[in-house]
Amino acid sequence: MRVGLVGCGQIGRMYAEHLAASGDVALTCHDTRAGQAAALAAQVDGEACDDVERLLDGAEAVVVTSSTESHDALVALALERKLPTFCEKPLTLDLHRTRELGLAADHGGTPLWIGFQRHFDAGFSALHDRIADGDIGTVYTVRMFSHDAAWPPLERLAASGSIFRDLMLHDFDMVRWLTGREVSGVAAIGDVLAVPELVELHDYDAVAATLGVEGGGVAVLTAGRHSPLGYDVRIEVLGSRDCLTVGLDDRTPMRQVTEHGPDRRPRHRDYRDRFAAAYRAQIDAFLAAARGGEPDPRAGTWRDSYAALALAMAAERSVRTRSFEPPVEATP
Ligand SMILES: NC(=O)c1ccc[n+]([C@@H]2O[C@H](COP(=O)([O-])OP(=O)(O)OC[C@H]3O[C@@H](n4cnc5c(N)ncnc54)[C@H](O)[C@@H]3O)[C@@H](O)[C@H]2O)c1
Repeated sequence: MRVGLVGCGQIGRMYAEHLAASGDVALTCHDTRAGQAAALAAQVDGEACDDVERLLDGAEAVVVTSSTESHDALVALALERKLPTFCEKPLTLDLHRTRELGLAADHGGTPLWIGFQRHFDAGFSALHDRIADGDIGTVYTVRMFSHDAAWPPLERLAASGSIFRDLMLHDFDMVRWLTGREVSGVAAIGDVLAVPELVELHDYDAVAATLGVEGGGVAVLTAGRHSPLGYDVRIEVLGSRDCLTVGLDDRTPMRQVTEHGPDRRPRHRDYRDRFAAAYRAQIDAFLAAARGGEPDPRAGTWRDSYAALALAMAAERSVRTRSFEPPVEATP
């Protein structure tokens, strides 16, 4: 299958390696930064193309891993050609455009996947199934943690929208995906403690959000841009029958003050280390769908991106108003 990869930065390089290892994929890479695509193509035995329209004309599927603000125009070009499209999250930073692109994909019958790799993580997907099967009973509380080991370059932070639209977007998505319910509202708070430049960007590096779940239950989320021991993504779900956790193991980047016992294994370095298997499973499932296979129920959708963005925007508003805010728009 001829696959076009647009955006050869940090996550694009990881996808290129997965795609090259998938077998039966002829990969063509494109990036607006000079030399970036050629260097990656040489590394994964693919080709480079400096004209994105030519790349799309020659592709049977496209993987968009460029900076967030470029997703809108690139996905529109791919959908015009009815190309099965995988786009890293978020689809766009604009609700109206997210809906327009999503409906265009729906009307054209074109697969449009958004990169929410936690849906494909062994732990999170088992938790999803246990909740759906009723093993936990009534879900009382969800507690989630998403903390980068170290913050990304400032240029990347500036292009990301905000920590709510970038990092905590995954947690907003998880609350909906795991509970199968919409969120009724968000109360959020944020501070700048590690990256002073974020003040000028009106962004934060330490945030917390409390969410109401429609039909009952609450979620408490924290996220941050610095965690000295390593990348830390965890969840605990407490219900009337059980309490289950994902991410608490001998690689979790925290220490007990009274720590004893064997040495721990190295902590997770970053998202690529922690979710390597999930990213691989996700892109393999996308390729299978692009080849005409059955849609995978775990696929992240444009509605997931829309709903998570509406919650991220509500969180931003809540930090300013200091009040509980409903999602900016209901999920279409
Ligand atoms: N799912 C996740 O956990 C996860 C993790 C990291 C990043 N992401 C997403 O992946 C995307 C890329 O993030 P990154 O960390 O790799 O950023 P990055 O800055 O390292 O790379 C982005 C690349 O896109 C290129 N680019 C920008 N505009 C382009 C255009 N119009 N056409 C072609 N190339 C273009 C840049 O030159 C750069 O090489 C972002 O949307 C981000 O939200 C998702």
